[in-house]
Amino acid sequence: MLPHKFIESRLRTAVAAVLPEANLAAVCVRPCPDSKFGDYQANALMALAKERKLNPRQLASQVVAHLDVSEQCEPVEIAGAGFLNFRLLPAALNATLRTAAAGEHLFFERATQPLTYVVDFSSPNVAKSMHIGHIRSTILGDALARLLRLLGHRVITDNHIGDWGTQFGKLLVGWKSQLDRAALAADPIGEMERLYKTTHAACEADPATLDLARRELVKLQNGDPENLAIWNEMIQLSKVQFDTMYSRLGVRFDHTYGESFYNPLLKGVVADLRERDIAVESEGAMVVFSDGKLPPKEDPFLKQEDGEWKPNPSLIQKSDGASNYTTTDLATLAFRRETWQPHYVLYVTDGRQQLHFQQLFAIFHRWQPESTMQLKHVWFGSILGEDNKPYKTRSGEVVRLADLLDEAIERAFQVVREKNPDLPEAECRRIARVVGIGAVKYADLLPNRQSDYIFSWDKMLAFNGNTVPYLLYAYARIRSIFRKAAAEPATAAPAGYPVAVTAPEETALARQLLKFDFVLAAVADDYRPNYLCSYLYELAGHFARFFENCPVLKAEPAERASRLVVCELTGRVLRQGLEILGIEVLEQM
Ligand code: ARG
Repeated sequence: MLPHKFIESRLRTAVAAVLPEANLAAVCVRPCPDSKFGDYQANALMALAKERKLNPRQLASQVVAHLDVSEQCEPVEIAGAGFLNFRLLPAALNATLRTAAAGEHLFFERATQPLTYVVDFSSPNVAKSMHIGHIRSTILGDALARLLRLLGHRVITDNHIGDWGTQFGKLLVGWKSQLDRAALAADPIGEMERLYKTTHAACEADPATLDLARRELVKLQNGDPENLAIWNEMIQLSKVQFDTMYSRLGVRFDHTYGESFYNPLLKGVVADLRERDIAVESEGAMVVFSDGKLPPKEDPFLKQEDGEWKPNPSLIQKSDGASNYTTTDLATLAFRRETWQPHYVLYVTDGRQQLHFQQLFAIFHRWQPESTMQLKHVWFGSILGEDNKPYKTRSGEVVRLADLLDEAIERAFQVVREKNPDLPEAECRRIARVVGIGAVKYADLLPNRQSDYIFSWDKMLAFNGNTVPYLLYAYARIRSIFRKAAAEPATAAPAGYPVAVTAPEETALARQLLKFDFVLAAVADDYRPNYLCSYLYELAGHFARFFENCPVLKAEPAERASRLVVCELTGRVLRQGLEILGIEVLEQM
């Protein structure tokens, strides 16, 4: 058991002895904000005292009287308004490093109660290239799925691709009248985008073309074999191109049901909502209004206009009988609930879809009130150019993901080559792929997901600062110690080897390793991988200070062996952390 889990469990026992009815789940231990005061801190007693109108310091001393953590901690201190500070005994710190070296844990614990998560992410639209917004969704969603899986949860990833909708009318007209097969073979999505654009322009200019597009769409919706076959081909071609992207990014999905999968269910969803009086007819369409149960400020079916609250209904069926994005998402939720009984469904999309998801979740809860599924919109901000406007190519077009990755690798190549002029070209290319893709991912995960960030090649490819080159370099440096020692990790860290950290920089590094569990839990709770980025950067900083101040290979044998274990463990945590972020490491750089 990790030390903080040991302390937590002893603390809960002590609290239960003093306050038998207290909610023990809220009694937690966190890292001390300032290591001056100790390693861990518990502030739950203050809330418990407040609820019961007790004197918090008095409650704290009663609890401490029942608290026995002497196996692992120095005597517990009551501080401030009544929080407890715990400081690990050196022996307990060393023992934790030793069990980690023996492979019993890597400073984190798996969930005691595995939950089921559906993660809906990436979800690009067919016949359109993946743009920069899908990059964030893909990278964030993949990192969250990887972490939740690592923590022992059951994770189902579903790529909810946009493979249905009115755009197919225009696409069909374009396909039938001016498809260039050679161009389609070379760049399917590029050619489909061209078909869409030219037909779209033709529709603007000529109502007859617009009418034709409408008729092609209706034919598709009614199952016309020719249109269905073309539509299918468009999906297959798009998927091939998406898959190329996903394999470059190392992202995989369990399912790609896509919007069209739910078509047969939509009429039933609308009928059911109508029967339950959740949806009502309004000007021939079916809409959902507020049920008045929420304060107006929190009610997604109201909006403020001229100082007044006005209805802001959600449309679930247009007056022509066609269902839409919301109807499909409702059917999708019902399907996910039935198929996987998830505890959580996470949607990773752009912040501009917030209203959609607020309304969707509210309608779903009214529709299936007995459902306990937790629905979360994990939204993110935009990627901006240096001019603070949405990031575009020089000619003002959306940046295609494929081009972005190519450029990242090319730029990484220049950087790597400059740093290592003697490395063979092939080796530089191999390193550049890992650095380039890693840099794009890391730059995306580093900022708080809800803030916009400015895309900067120079920043993300720099060797100093919180960047992928810096972290990969830190990892490679650790590996080089082992190459120099000609000691394989296995022989450097045999189980039970006497690890003893002594120097302050070394102890600080060890303590940082012990914080890994807290960071992973916080990322999983808030769906914010940026916490992990900060942690890894701090870890690399601790390692640098340790390495500067504490000789490893030149230390005398016992200390050398112990320090090699510390190096090895740091490397493992760095690698594990980067792996959660979907970033590969390099043995040499
Ligand atoms: N295809 C949508 C888009 O490109 C994202 C879909 C997100 N998932 C969902 N279940 N609505 O914006």
